[in-house]
Order: sequence, then C-alpha cells, then structure tokens
Amino acid sequence: MLNFLATVLLSGAWAVNAQTPTERVIPTLAPQVNAAPSLTPTIHDPTAPNAQRCPGYKASGIHYKANGFTADLNIAGANCQAFGNDIANLRLLVEYQTQDRLNVKIWPKYLSLANSTQYVLPTEIVPAPVADGKTTNHTSDLKLEWTNEPSFQFRVSRSKTGEELFSTYGSVIVFEDQFLELTTSMVKDYNVYGLAENIRDFRLGNNHTQTFYAVDAGNTVDGNVYGTFPFYQETRYNVDGKTQAHGVYARNAHGQEWLLRDRKIIYRTIGGSLDFYFLSGQDKTGQSSALETIRQFQVGCVGTPAMQMFWTFGFHQTRWGYQNISVMRDVLKGYKDANIPLEAIWNDIDIYDLYRDFTSDDNTFPASGMKRLISDLHANDQYYVPIVDSNIYVPNPNNASDAYAPFSRGAELGTFIRDANTGNFYYGNNWPGFSVWPDWLLPSSQTWWTSELVSWWHSIPFDGIWIDLSEAASFCAGNCGNGRLTENPVHPPFLLPNDEFQTDYRYPEGFNISNATEAASVSAASASQASILSTRTLLPVPTTTTRGRTIPTPGVRDLSFPPYVINHVQNGHSLLRSAIAPNATHGDASKTTEYEMHNLFGLQISNATYHALLSVFPGKRPFTVGRSTFAGSGKTTSHWGGDNTSTFGSMFLSISQALTFMMSGVPMFGADTCGFAGNTDFDLCSRWQSLSAFFPFYRNHNVKATISQEAYRWSSVAEATRRAIKVRYSLLNYMYTLFYYAHTKGDTVMRALAWEFPQDASLRGTYTQFLLGPSILVTPVLVPNANTVKGVFPGIGQGTRWYDWYTLREVQAKPQENVTMPAPLEHINVHVRGGSILPLQAPQMTTTATRKSPFSLLISLDDCDEASGSLYLDDGESLVPAATKLVKFKFSKNRLTSHINGTYATSAPLKQITIAGIKNRPRGIRLRVGGSKCDERKLAWTHTNDTLSVSGLENFSKTAFEGALDLRLVY
Ligand code: GLC
Repeated sequence: MLNFLATVLLSGAWAVNAQTPTERVIPTLAPQVNAAPSLTPTIHDPTAPNAQRCPGYKASGIHYKANGFTADLNIAGANCQAFGNDIANLRLLVEYQTQDRLNVKIWPKYLSLANSTQYVLPTEIVPAPVADGKTTNHTSDLKLEWTNEPSFQFRVSRSKTGEELFSTYGSVIVFEDQFLELTTSMVKDYNVYGLAENIRDFRLGNNHTQTFYAVDAGNTVDGNVYGTFPFYQETRYNVDGKTQAHGVYARNAHGQEWLLRDRKIIYRTIGGSLDFYFLSGQDKTGQSSALETIRQFQVGCVGTPAMQMFWTFGFHQTRWGYQNISVMRDVLKGYKDANIPLEAIWNDIDIYDLYRDFTSDDNTFPASGMKRLISDLHANDQYYVPIVDSNIYVPNPNNASDAYAPFSRGAELGTFIRDANTGNFYYGNNWPGFSVWPDWLLPSSQTWWTSELVSWWHSIPFDGIWIDLSEAASFCAGNCGNGRLTENPVHPPFLLPNDEFQTDYRYPEGFNISNATEAASVSAASASQASILSTRTLLPVPTTTTRGRTIPTPGVRDLSFPPYVINHVQNGHSLLRSAIAPNATHGDASKTTEYEMHNLFGLQISNATYHALLSVFPGKRPFTVGRSTFAGSGKTTSHWGGDNTSTFGSMFLSISQALTFMMSGVPMFGADTCGFAGNTDFDLCSRWQSLSAFFPFYRNHNVKATISQEAYRWSSVAEATRRAIKVRYSLLNYMYTLFYYAHTKGDTVMRALAWEFPQDASLRGTYTQFLLGPSILVTPVLVPNANTVKGVFPGIGQGTRWYDWYTLREVQAKPQENVTMPAPLEHINVHVRGGSILPLQAPQMTTTATRKSPFSLLISLDDCDEASGSLYLDDGESLVPAATKLVKFKFSKNRLTSHINGTYATSAPLKQITIAGIKNRPRGIRLRVGGSKCDERKLAWTHTNDTLSVSGLENFSKTAFEGALDLRLVY
C-alpha cells in the first residue's frame, strides 16, 4: 500500500486535517518522519570496491568422514574490508545429506555469545535440512571437488555424468561481517526459475538482480517484494539427449541479492553464513526434472505445505471500504441475487475501532451485529475472515480514555521489540498511530498473541485470519514515536484513499476503447482534481540528503547504513524507510537485532497465528493468509500476492508470481482478483475472475476510494464468474487431491507447462498458459478488448491428446502450433489432458453443498486409450482426520478399475462416468461395484462425438467409492 500512496504524496500532496472513521479530528504526522538519506545501491555504484580482489581462504585441517568432511578456512592474505570486516577464520562442512542433497556450510570459527556479531540462522527459527545418516559420497547423486589454488574453491557435479551444476572455480569467496559473496559459473543463456518473491517473467533471465528485503511496496516489477525464498531451480535442455534439472537453496535470512548475469550468478548477503543445499533433482531412475527438484526442496529443505480446509477453496470477497455491517449484507445479497457462489466475506481494517487490532467499531461493526452476521453466514455454510495488522497501537499516556488493553497486556509482559538506545519499546507508525510490534523471539509473545486472538474470537467469531503488513511495515523511519506518544492517535504521514481529493482515476489498459464515454468523463474529472490540488498547500516532501558509501570500520558493524547497499526498492534505497529500523533489538539472550530478523517477521507472525488458531479451533487446520513469507512459510500459512494494480499487466504477472510460489512450497496462493490499486473495468474484471478461478486461493479485493468490483456489478463479470466457478467447483476434489499430494509428497498444484513437458524447450519461458495439476490446461485472455486467445497444446504429436473441457471434443492441432481459439468475454479456455481420470462433483452455491452433490468421473483417453487418476477424501477440516480415503482409478484395455485405501465415507453417490476420446461405440457395458455384478439394464449410456456417457450408477451404491469399481466396455 505504502508505495502507491507515497507516489501520490511525492508527486505533490497537500495538507488536510484528515478524519478517522469516527470523525475524530486528529493531527497529521508530517511526511518528514519517513525521511532517510538517499543511497547509491552498490550494483549501480561505479566507485564500489571489487570484492573479488579479496584474498579468499585456504582450507586446512581436513577431516574426512563417511558422509563428507570438515575443514578450517583461513584467510589467504590481508583483510580487504570490501563491505565489512573480514572474518579471518572460518569452518567448512561438506555433508552428503541424502542421496539427492549435498550441503556446504561455511561459518565463523569463533562463535560465542560474547562475540556473536555474526548471526548464524538458528534451526529453531528456520529448520535446517538434516542428513539421513546413511548417505555417503559413494551413494550420493552429487560429487563435490575442491581446490586450494589459488584459494579455496569448490564445484558440485552429478556423480554419474560429471555434469557440473555449481562452481566457484575462478572466483574468491568473501566472508565479512556485513558482506558475504560467492559466485558460481553458469551455462550460457541459463534457465533459472524461482527466487520468490518477485514480480517478473517466470524465467528470470540472465540480466536481473533479485533483491530480498521484505518491503511494503506494492507489486514492484523486478524489485524486492514481501517475501524471501532463496531457492532457484535450473533447467538445461538436451544434456546427454535429455532435459536435466537441479536446484540450489541458500539458507540465510539477511538482506541479500542474487545477481543473475551472463554465464554466472553472484550471491551476496549482508550478514549470516553460507549454507548451501544442492539438490540433484534426480528421481529413483536417475533422471532429473524440475518437479522432482521442487519436491526435494519442499520435502527435504523447508517442509511440505499445510493441508487446507476444504471450504477455503471456495470464492472469497473482500475490499478495503466496507463501511458497516449493512454494506456487507448488501454485498452478500448482491452475490445471492446474481446467483454467484460466495464462500466467504472478509473485513479489512474498516472493522476496527480507530484501526486497532482485536477491536471492532461500536458504531459501524458492533460485536452483537457481527455475531448475527457471522451466525447467518454459518447457517448458509459461508465463512468470515477479518484482517489482523502486525502493529499494535500505543495509547496516549495523557489520555485515560485512550486505553488499549491489548497493548497494556503485552507491555506488562514486555513482549514488544525494543529501541537500541533507549531500551524502551520501539515506537514506529502505522494505521492507528504510533505503534509497537511483537517480539517473536520472546515466548511471552506467543502466549499474549494467542490470548488476544482467542478473546477477540469471542466477540468476532471468525473462521480464519488475514495477516497484513508483516514485513513488518512502519510508516516512518526509526523510533519516530519516541517522546511523541502524547500526540497519539496520529494520522499516518501520507494521505489515505478516503482523504479529500484522493479519488483514484486510473483505469485498465484499453478502458478508453471499451468504455469510451466514461473514459472521457473520467479524464475531465481527473483534470479537475489535479487543478484543485494545484491550489492547495503542499505538505513538505521528505528531505532526502545523499549519503556516501559507508567505509567499514574495524570492530564496528553499521546496521543502519551497511557498507554494501542493496538495491532496496524504497525511495532512496535506505533500509530505514518504511520499516522497523535495523538496529531495533529483540529480547532474547543474544539481543538479536532487526538487521538479522527483518525478513523473518512474516514467517514468525504466521507461525504464531497458526498456533493461536489451534487454541481457537483445537484439532482444526488453521487458515491464515499472510503478506510477508519466508522459505518454510507454507507449513503454516498461505499468501496473497499483495497490492497489485487493476491492469492487464498485473493480471499477467500474477501467473508467474503464482508459479514461483508453487515452487516455494506455498501453493495456497492467489492474487487480488480484478486488481487492488486503481479502478477495474468489466473487461479486465471478467478476464481476471475467470483466471483466478484456477488459482488455489480465489479472492476479489480492492482498495478504498475506487469503484466497487464485486463480481455481480457488471453482467459480463457475473456471467464470467458463474461459468468459471462452475468449472472450479466441479473440480474441487481434484484441487483438494492436488493439495493432499503437495502436503504429503511436495507435488505442485499449479504447474508451468515446462514442468510437465520438459523435453519441449520452446516452453521454457511460457506463463501465458499454465496447468492445474498435471491434467487441466488453462489458456486465459491477458490483453484488453480481445475475443480470441492463442495457445499451444504441448505434447501433441508425441503421445498427448487434449480435449476441450466444455465440449469434450478432441483438439486438432499440429505440434507446437500456436492455435487461435474463440474467447468471448465470459469464457475461459480450459482443456483436459488425455490420460486423466478426474473425479467431479456437481457444482453448487457453496463448497459444502458441492461436497454433498453427486460425483461423476471424467475419463479422457491418451494415445494408448489409457487413463489414470486419483481422489483424496477426508472431513475437510481436521488436522488429523479420523478417517481418510484414497481412491486410485485406472482405465486400460476398455476397463475402468479402482483401488480404495481408507475408510472415509462420503455421503454423495457416484452417478455418471464419461469417457472422452473413445472412437468406437461398445456393444455393451458390464459393471461390478464392490465385487457384485450389477444389472446393466439400470444403466443408461450414449456414445456421441467420440464420447461415451454412462449414467445410473447411483442405482448400485448409495454412496460413491464404497466398493471398488469395475466397468468394462464390451466390443
Ligand atoms: C495493505 C494490504 C491491503 C489492505 C490495506 C488496508 O495495503 O496489502 O490488502 O487492503 O493494507 O488494510
């Protein structure tokens, strides 16, 4: 949010006496509070030292073990003080951890509490992958070689083929307190993916710097965003006649940069240790793949994603700007009247009393009314999710009526982050005014957070929590509230979307064509707003002095201005802007600073909220959606893509953002559908509602002070949504089963075409299309005012067949042909891959009703007239379900069979089986259910357009998948 608002402010804003929702006049906090010196990012600084002139290290004292070796690394020359103080003595560990994973760790030899300026990421915060205790260098897929000439360098290759995957040969390793650098050579024109979170092409390319420093800055293309996942996957086409893939995970949470350059990647962090995990990507047969690499990252390195509750796959609606309960009831009615399934309604910060967590405004969202609303929702099998911000308001000490109990209770436990100099709490700024933040390194924070959420639930009985601003964002630089708490509550140092003359007149690309008359009047209104603004007194723009590069001083770390300046997306690039200052301290024994913890706040608040929800709903899967995430976050939370814009460009980039989150082990991902900042229009919103229906997390969200964008607002959007939800809800079990495999095996949910068709090098950069699981191909319209769309059908000519979802007609296309397909506004092209068996349920208005409606099976035949698929069932909400069922289906030689494992019983019957791609009409059909022969006269079947449809199966079993199926086509 902040970046978008800051842009408005910097482009020339004006002074107003802004008002809170309760009409209380409050002082305006001057923008100066967020001023910070302007710095030159090192990657753009021609005067910056070349760290490759550093001496590097020499290995000695090698101690070999069955699964690797350890050594000392001692600096091989004089300290070079490139961007910090050299650490002369290091330790090296090379460990063959599992057959597919090799770990190389380098860390300071002398680490003690007394001298703990170098923060090595503790395993309690981010677990480290562990060795299986049996792999040796002889049984590993990987091999490490090293040399001491001219200094310590290493390379990792595949044991069998010698293919080099990673090599520091030709470069020195730099290890300073505030700067670490390691360079690997890469093949020409390499294909690297991942390094989430980024808003960029899916294939990252060979000329990009990925900066990681969690930031509240909208969806900045190519910059740092909210999350940090230091993991990449590389694909190489036609190595030894096959496509090969592998992965690299660097376990470090500091601010860092990955410089993707021609034939090399340079990895730089501003602290911590080198902790590399090389993943072979090889499966049991020895063949490597992207999907296997991603599995190895999830299962072996960060943990597989949480299983989500079934209802969370329904369609969600929220916006910033639902002013009261009656507005929310209108929205619910709008959906109902338009016959559009709505699963959950959410509240943004509008619900709060004066923007304070764990409250609700007595006038607009009284607890009694909220209880009634939520109980009505629950009676309709619908759900409610409110926002919780990461900051906690500090009441005005001079104003007894400003008491705020969540703060007082936390303060009593001393559970907030502290200022380095005063030792008091660190007072930054956020929506409610001067605020503090929980210190997650203190166990008391969890106790307090749980108790606040549990007690809030008693007045607002929510079903999940939306965690915002967890970067953690502060709207000022430094301890700006120190000595000023008596001014609270202060208005943030910028204008809000509901402030005077803050109407947002931005519209999507092509709006002037699809809405010509409206575009003309919008342009006039925008000009008139601009002319009024030009007569207003401008708020002073924060002064930014420029600051030269920090020269490292022996024995000193400069946390506020590290010598290496990352290309931080904030204006002026300073780490001080819009976040808790790097020198703020935590209350743990080592007095860990924010410099070390910054990228972990999001992970920690999600973990804390997960555990708090376990107390609210014992035994149930906690549902949270968080903004800032880190490697491993998927175990406890989900993610929405943050503050995107209502543009076709933003919609397009949401696909690559989603794919990188699938790789990162956070599959419950979705973007603000129809766009957050700016106004949407019917064209964009129709297309986006259709596209997001194939993302795991499906939510429409919008900023305040723009037009409403609920799906029922335009007839085209309503129709597009109804149709897309029909497909989505039919496939809910398929999506849920994909999650089951993600949770148990590290499989991906949305998939890049390149992952499923690894031999086809032409797909290496494709994200205009994607797959849901292995079987559903989605070809969205991503440009304005279109009525056709182009897409490829991978694998055609090499054994793959594709069928149109809606007609079940087989696609006739040539290999690699870019096929033009009709794409009317309300239609999204969806195709089913031959060889799949999809369990479907008849879509209803809620996921609960859908779960009770009859099943059918859709079988699409491949080139060998075969197909397979599976279905996972459980109660949809328990962490450890009392019963589960996994059904595996197979169609081969004109016969469908199923294998059932588990006892979970669904209440819905199986009614129909449809087989697409079946050329010849059978003479008859034989059916057995649970071994018993069925009377075929009770079945009805048709064969048209190469599709066989058999109905009447409910006559033989009241509930689906109780007994094994055996259906034979007789010729
Ligand atoms: C942040 C969130 C956005 C939310 C807004 C107000 O910008 O990313 O989703 O609407 O804050 O709470």
